[in-house]
Amino acid sequence: MRIGILNSGGDCPGLNAVTHGVVGAAHKIGWEVIGFRDGFEGLLPPGDYRFLTPEDTMGILKLGGTILGSTNKGHFSAKIGVGNVTEIPKEIIDRARRTIDQLEIEALIIVGGDGSLTTGLQLFRQGWPIIGVPKTIDNDLSATAMSFGFDSAVTTVVDALDRLNTTAESHKRVMVLEVMGRHAGWIALWGGIAGGANVILLPEIPFSLQKIADFIKNRDAQGQHATLVVVAEGAKLPDGELVTIDKNSTGEIRLGGISEQVAARLQELTKKETRATTLGHLQRGGAPTAFDRILGMRFGVMAVNLAKQKAFGRMVSYEAYHVDSVTIEEAVNKLRLVDPDGEFVQVARAVGICMGDS
Ligand code: F6P
Repeated sequence: MRIGILNSGGDCPGLNAVTHGVVGAAHKIGWEVIGFRDGFEGLLPPGDYRFLTPEDTMGILKLGGTILGSTNKGHFSAKIGVGNVTEIPKEIIDRARRTIDQLEIEALIIVGGDGSLTTGLQLFRQGWPIIGVPKTIDNDLSATAMSFGFDSAVTTVVDALDRLNTTAESHKRVMVLEVMGRHAGWIALWGGIAGGANVILLPEIPFSLQKIADFIKNRDAQGQHATLVVVAEGAKLPDGELVTIDKNSTGEIRLGGISEQVAARLQELTKKETRATTLGHLQRGGAPTAFDRILGMRFGVMAVNLAKQKAFGRMVSYEAYHVDSVTIEEAVNKLRLVDPDGEFVQVARAVGICMGDS
């Protein structure tokens, strides 16, 4: 038996842990593993791939990025953002299929987010032996409570807030930290709570700058002169506007800049010196946390188990401490957003964090 693995979409810490799990578990039962380079692109003839042995994957568990490379552009884009699904041209699928057949690959593990798994679903519907592994740093894929990379991103946010806090205290400033989270504010919410933020702004909860300014002035009056604000890049300004940089080469909007706008307005309204920091790709780079190493490895081992059972069209999932699986169909096209009335937001409000709406 020979299986393939590819990483598709934006990278995140823990991708190599998945590869480590797949290669280890596959070799244990005598299977060969082929890793395709740069996502689905590696499938196009003549094929860009390498055989992966346990020796090749020794030491990669702790590495950020991906030894296989990844791309969120190319010939296999099935959708832009959460937009409409487009069919991948038959000619592209047929060419890629030739590589799979020539290499006698009996299962193909796709490690990717919503867009990449939508591509996987199209291939599965055309008879490909696809197994999905969820990858999203934003943690916004439905049907899995957690994906690897999220914990590492949250840890980076917490570290940034700890650092911003000391300088905010020294200068009695307001510090606004912009974090990733296109549609879902999980990184902002978890990072903000764990990092001691005073204000957390999410795409899911509309906010009022005046209410935040009043909150900051009230803190000041009580002798708390430093305030930490965390804002998700996908939060909308009070007029409903998303703050964007431009579009990337696939036509997807690149978000960024909301922290600058929020900081400028808060400075005007509070008359307190307010600074903005954008954390950007620091959240995606670097070594995975212990949790993400273990989760990634568990996902990899589960993917091999699914291949053993020929459970094609399924995606590895995580729920209540257990790694399990769901159909890819159930997992894609639905985002797992923060529930504005859910427990995490209630916890934040209970400890006095301002969510910008009251
Ligand atoms: O969807 C994950 C994500 O990290 C978003 O939070 C962010 O907007 C985007 O990817 C950045 O992607 P890229 O590195 O391709 O610009």
